Amino acid sequence: MSVKITETVLRDAHQSLLATRMRTRDMLEVVEQLDQIGYFSLEMWGGATFDSCIRYLNEDPWQRLREIKKRLKNTQAQMLLRGQNLVGYKHYSDDVVEKFVTKSYENGIDVFRIFDAVNDIRNMELSIKVAKQLGAHVQGTVCYTISPVHTVEKYVELARQLEELECDSICIKDMAGLLSPKDAGELIKGMKKEVSVPISLHCHCTSGMAPMSYFAACEAGVDILDTALSPLAWGTSQPPTETTVAALKGTPYDTGLDLEAFEEVVQYFKALKEKYRGILDPISEQIDTNVLIYQIPGGMLSNLVSQLKEQNALDRYRSVLKEMPKVRKELGYPPLVTPTSQIVGTQAVLNVLMGERYKVIPKEVKDYVRGLYGRSPAPISPEIIGKIIGDEEPINCRPADLLKPEYEKRRKEAEELGIAGSEEAVLTYILYPAIAPKFLKGEMEEEALAVVTPALTAPQEYTLPTDFKVTVDDEIFEVKIEPTGGVSISEPNPKPKPETVKGAVSSSMQGMVLSLKVKVEDTVQAGDTIAVIEAMKMENAVHAPHSGTIKGIFVAEGDTVSPGDLLMAIE
Ligand code: CO
Repeated sequence: MSVKITETVLRDAHQSLLATRMRTRDMLEVVEQLDQIGYFSLEMWGGATFDSCIRYLNEDPWQRLREIKKRLKNTQAQMLLRGQNLVGYKHYSDDVVEKFVTKSYENGIDVFRIFDAVNDIRNMELSIKVAKQLGAHVQGTVCYTISPVHTVEKYVELARQLEELECDSICIKDMAGLLSPKDAGELIKGMKKEVSVPISLHCHCTSGMAPMSYFAACEAGVDILDTALSPLAWGTSQPPTETTVAALKGTPYDTGLDLEAFEEVVQYFKALKEKYRGILDPISEQIDTNVLIYQIPGGMLSNLVSQLKEQNALDRYRSVLKEMPKVRKELGYPPLVTPTSQIVGTQAVLNVLMGERYKVIPKEVKDYVRGLYGRSPAPISPEIIGKIIGDEEPINCRPADLLKPEYEKRRKEAEELGIAGSEEAVLTYILYPAIAPKFLKGEMEEEALAVVTPALTAPQEYTLPTDFKVTVDDEIFEVKIEPTGGVSISEPNPKPKPETVKGAVSSSMQGMVLSLKVKVEDTVQAGDTIAVIEAMKMENAVHAPHSGTIKGIFVAEGDTVSPGDLLMAIE
């Protein structure tokens, strides 16, 4: 039985190794060649690519999809869809899910790989149903993790439920590279016994076991393997495509692909990797068996490093790694995948940086404990529930049942903002309301690829030359330039320092001021939410540290703040 290959180089590989920064133009140059290889599918959309396109690359993700699809004649275009979360970080109402899946299909997606972070089937039902009705191939997905409550029987049962929902294939998604060869064999044998649709396996090399697990999976009857072309394989990415093809040659699992066919595309991605060298994080390229202890998935490690860098706290990396499994256990062992990886990861970062556990709790963590992301794999203890949401009662129903239809309402908002040019644009706005307006108005700029050198980020040490020699018709004049006014280089926008302001409230994190909840002269009680800062892709409420009257607000919505920056004065 020959094994088929899903190529991830245009999605997961660069999401894992290059912080999802690959440009559409760099993809389009090679799509037609990739199309000739003979893959089962080409994963090229969804996951974090949507966010990254509009947040960093000033690119329209919908256009990326259409342009790639246009060049695919033989290969199915595949996307990763986070069930009711789509390509965002929270649950969307059913009408938005329906619209998004439909538009994704219409713009070119053939294979929908649909998962839910906590394996709650209620969060996947609708997107599966809609994609099926449209005639797409639906790959129902189980997220693999290790915990006292995750057993082979549970996974097999989940796969059976997905088959009942008429999924065309089942994917085992090992986002952290935790799946050992032995477990891969047992899991796939177990599923092959109970379900009749093809089984696909998606592993990351993070712990180094993936190539061995792939072979064990072949022996157990796996049908499809996810691989990435070697320049963007290994580390936190997938096992290399060419190696997999070569290793299976002449076995009963032979992929039937021609090794020589890869030469040019491999050359292409080797050169491309050099271009993106500045983004490549050495940590994400390494094998790290610590993931077997900390269970952190591919993309998350590099995210964590950049989050800590942003917070100027890279030295706390090990402490955060240790905090992670504690938080995960307390939250009922969610598999660590978007968005639960951000939920657990951000809480762990905050627990370490704040010097007190659960002192700051992002809205997303509260919502998770409220049950708004679905059922946690293991129950959360009443003590932790109390700590996080107080006396509130967590919900029991399907989370999206609580959401009112929002497409029309949001479309009107987008219209008022002048950005409702197409249904796709409206969906972009619904998914990323904070950044989409700027993007859709064409006010964003593409993030530079070049690495910023420290000298340029420290303007206070940067002195302008004042003495010049000017040559006019071979005669040299020595001139001295003295500033007579204008913008000062060292202090572009001096702000009051917190220590000089009475009742100062300063930011504890690096992020963007999403909204201000108070105005000057408002009275607040200690603990009231006074502002929301988006940091690490999560909304974090800033609470008044003491009661009083707002005497000054020193930031505006949309401002970027650093730890220690003055936000407000409450007297
Ligand atoms: Co992955």
